[in-house]
Amino acid sequence: MYLNQLTLTNFKNYKSEKFAFSPALNFITGSNGAGKTNVLDAIHYLCLGKSYFHSIDLNSVMHTKNFFRLEGDFGNEEKLNITNVYQQGGKKELAKNSVVYQRIIDHVGLIPVVMITPDDQLLIDEGSEERRRFIDNTISQIDHTYLENLVAYNKVLQQRNAALKKFAENRNVDHALLESYNEQLAASGKNIFSMRQKYFSSMIPLLEKKYELLSNQKEKVTATYNSVCSKENLLDALKRSTAKDVATQRTNEGIHKDDFDFFLNTRSLKKFGSQGQKKSFLMALKFSQFEIIAAEKNETPLLLLDDLFDKLDEQRSENILKLISSNGFGQVFITDTNEERINKFSGQTNKEFEHWSI
Ligand SMILES: Nc1ncnc2c1ncn2[C@@H]1O[C@H](COP(=O)(O)OP(=O)(O)OP(=O)(O)O)[C@@H](O)[C@H]1O
Ligand SMILES: [Mg+2]
Repeated sequence: MYLNQLTLTNFKNYKSEKFAFSPALNFITGSNGAGKTNVLDAIHYLCLGKSYFHSIDLNSVMHTKNFFRLEGDFGNEEKLNITNVYQQGGKKELAKNSVVYQRIIDHVGLIPVVMITPDDQLLIDEGSEERRRFIDNTISQIDHTYLENLVAYNKVLQQRNAALKKFAENRNVDHALLESYNEQLAASGKNIFSMRQKYFSSMIPLLEKKYELLSNQKEKVTATYNSVCSKENLLDALKRSTAKDVATQRTNEGIHKDDFDFFLNTRSLKKFGSQGQKKSFLMALKFSQFEIIAAEKNETPLLLLDDLFDKLDEQRSENILKLISSNGFGQVFITDTNEERINKFSGQTNKEFEHWSI
């Protein structure tokens, strides 16, 4: 699958703009604030129905306007037209060939996408929520039942937490209600756990290998997955923590607490990694995500590389460019502030490319 043409209306800094893209390489260059990242985010909206960066669609509406509209013409064997319209105060509408989706999540997986941006540093430096978001994003694009389970789990979790707050207000605990929530959480939670375990364990060897490649074997990295479910039956864990949950008015155990630890030469990557090492790790992690999605879907995802060369030394940049020029990749978008660097690279590649200077 690839994107032929993108039309933006009132989207962030674009009032009305059209881009035609190559099915292979696409370079977008321009100075800081020109709107390079915004183009990638527009593509992300069309692939997954939401922004890569935030969950508030109003932030993507051009200031002083009250709607945005995005349209993408995708193609491989058959043409695919996707539109995404958000009206302030209204609902966001995503449509495939003019047919509006009832639920946006039903679109997820149709156009696989992997995005890499400098903001991904949060995956290493911030709390566990960012890391769960990453694995959820990966598996959701591969398996629709995962996303269904996740939506179901989060809904019950919210209900359980609301009930716990109410119990504290009323000084009265409804144990039967909690038990019913526990069973529902355990049912969807177990499926989520086994899928996370499956895909994360196939991702780790890829991650290790790709990091070696990027760093010319200078360092080694690895990762581990930690979940209450690897130590205890989820239903037992929920029952065990019920007294604590009532006291703290929230659900303390469950797959919503899962985390992933990253290591550089056996030490914490977050504490001891340099900026370039962290960036290399993120690239290796995302390229592993790409490979897993590509293998499972039998289709190469769109690859969105924002500020690709930022913080990378020449050797690592070259290794990445070699990788991207190899055959396993489909349509790739690369943004950079440095026009010369892109000209140099596009002069070397034998792939078809398009260069937008904005
Ligand atoms: N809702 C909005 N309405 C109007 N303009 C917006 C909106 N949101 C963001 N912008 C503008 O978009 C521009 C930023 O675009 P973007 O982040 O794509 O830049 P960039 O080319 O990636 O820059 P950099 O090289 O610094 O990463 C800023 O000028 C910002 O003010
Ligand atoms: Mg940017």
